[in-house]
Amino acid sequence: MNYPATGYHHITACAGGAQEDVDFFTSVVGQRLVKQTILMDGSFPHYHLYYANAKAEPGSVMTTFPYSRIQGRPGSGQIQATAYSVSKDSLPFWQGHFKRHKIEHSPIEERFGQKFIRFKHPAGLYFEMIEDKDDDRQPWSTDEINQSEGVRGFHGAVLSVRDIPEQERFLVEALGFKKTGVDGKYHRFEIAGGGANKTLTLLHEPDRAPGSWTFGAGTVHHLALWVADDEAMAAQKAIYEEIGYTDASEIKDRYYFHSMYVRSPGGILVECCCNANGGFERDETFDRLGSQLHLPPWFEDRRQEILATLEPIKAPAIATARA
Ligand SMILES: [Fe+2]
Repeated sequence: MNYPATGYHHITACAGGAQEDVDFFTSVVGQRLVKQTILMDGSFPHYHLYYANAKAEPGSVMTTFPYSRIQGRPGSGQIQATAYSVSKDSLPFWQGHFKRHKIEHSPIEERFGQKFIRFKHPAGLYFEMIEDKDDDRQPWSTDEINQSEGVRGFHGAVLSVRDIPEQERFLVEALGFKKTGVDGKYHRFEIAGGGANKTLTLLHEPDRAPGSWTFGAGTVHHLALWVADDEAMAAQKAIYEEIGYTDASEIKDRYYFHSMYVRSPGGILVECCCNANGGFERDETFDRLGSQLHLPPWFEDRRQEILATLEPIKAPAIATARA
């Protein structure tokens, strides 16, 4: 079977405060703020902030809903950590960087022969920097983080599940992942040739209580895999339905993307996503990505009301010269 998904498009988490989230991703992780908009579902306005690498590429896009209204409950059936890839031998730099920013972090650890450090977002979310010598995507850079150390994009997500077999069947039969290794309680899956941005890791935690499914600060809401276009999206929906994942959602218009969601057997929400209408550049030029709040047209008549409820944020100065 030909499977449409080729790697990640974005990963979406619920943060707490908006400014602390912007500071974490732009100053600590060193990503580029590429879009400020709002959550397109529901009636309460919440920011939807997007961070990415220098080219704002799918597979580097971390998105957050700063969502201090409700606290999430971490647990199994959730994405436990989101891993970025960085260059070989750059972890000592990151240790020093995290220390300077007073970011809680682990010593250098190893999984499937790759070195990584785990570190913590102020809302309690876990991230990792994984060394990957083969990832040549272009990082964003900052006053403190050079291109040689910067994050290239995602390496992959680590998903906590109580039971491996049904989640494995979903990954393999519905999405086309291949199982490529087991390292203790970690099970590695790769798609479209594997490596950075094409790796997904299951963490077997049979005794861990399930985490919350709703939006809630401190939890990851979903991961999104990238498919080429609307035709590929329809093909993926047909695969889901043929196998029996009848709860795959309709294909939704997310203004910059088209998206479809399905709840996977382990509890993790999985989206498939393709760029639509120019993607991030639909409403601002590449050089000015992320510089101001953009509302989709159907929210424009509520702009003043929405602005009044959102925490004011100070975005970093546009620094295209650094890319
Ligand atoms: Fe999404």
